[in-house]
Amino acid sequence: MSHLQSPQVVNPDTMRSVLGRFASGVTVVTGLVNDQPLGMTIQSFLSLSLEPPLVLISVARTSSTWPLLRLQGQFAVNILGETQAGVASSFGRRQGKTFDGVPWRPGPATGSPVLKNAVAWIEAEIWQTYDGGDHEIAVARVLDLGTEDYESSPLLFYRSGFTALAHTDAAARTRAHCNKDA
Ligand SMILES: Cc1cc2nc3c(=O)[nH]c(=O)nc-3n(C[C@H](O)[C@H](O)[C@H](O)COP(=O)(O)O)c2cc1C
Repeated sequence: MSHLQSPQVVNPDTMRSVLGRFASGVTVVTGLVNDQPLGMTIQSFLSLSLEPPLVLISVARTSSTWPLLRLQGQFAVNILGETQAGVASSFGRRQGKTFDGVPWRPGPATGSPVLKNAVAWIEAEIWQTYDGGDHEIAVARVLDLGTEDYESSPLLFYRSGFTALAHTDAAARTRAHCNKDA
């Protein structure tokens, strides 16, 4: 099947399989609630607006972490580095999340955990939430942001698995092609 024929053919497995072809970075969204660090892995993150500075995340309604972060009204988005697949897996679980062995420091604007070895971090406060079916869409205003380790490469998620930027000849050719007119 190469194209959509009717709404009935859209089932969750098809959605996962087709949409899994969209490669993305991986983040851990963190917050400090009652002095306890909390976090969850989020792939559906994007930069939304420069003026005002807004980012967007989409969170499953089944999440037990998100209601606590939403109540707090602010969080940090940590863009993971290529060495952090273990962190992404650990914070992608429903239970047993722990910051043990995950060094972090409080972000300057919100105190939310900024993870060591993340490539970048963004602290934000919730601006608006929207209905997103079985997810909630949260648009948040950026309060502060920075790069942790400018040289490190991001962790990627593609077709249900973790990967990293390729350093092959093909990848080098693509980069050269894309940078030609820049
Ligand atoms: C690579 C990866 C990406 C994920 N992206 C999302 C996402 O964008 N939105 C979401 O709600 N959950 C996402 N999850 C799942 C959540 O991290 C997971 O359901 C959450 O940590 C559940 O725990 P909680 O009930 O304590 O919130 C992702 C998990 C992984 C491993």
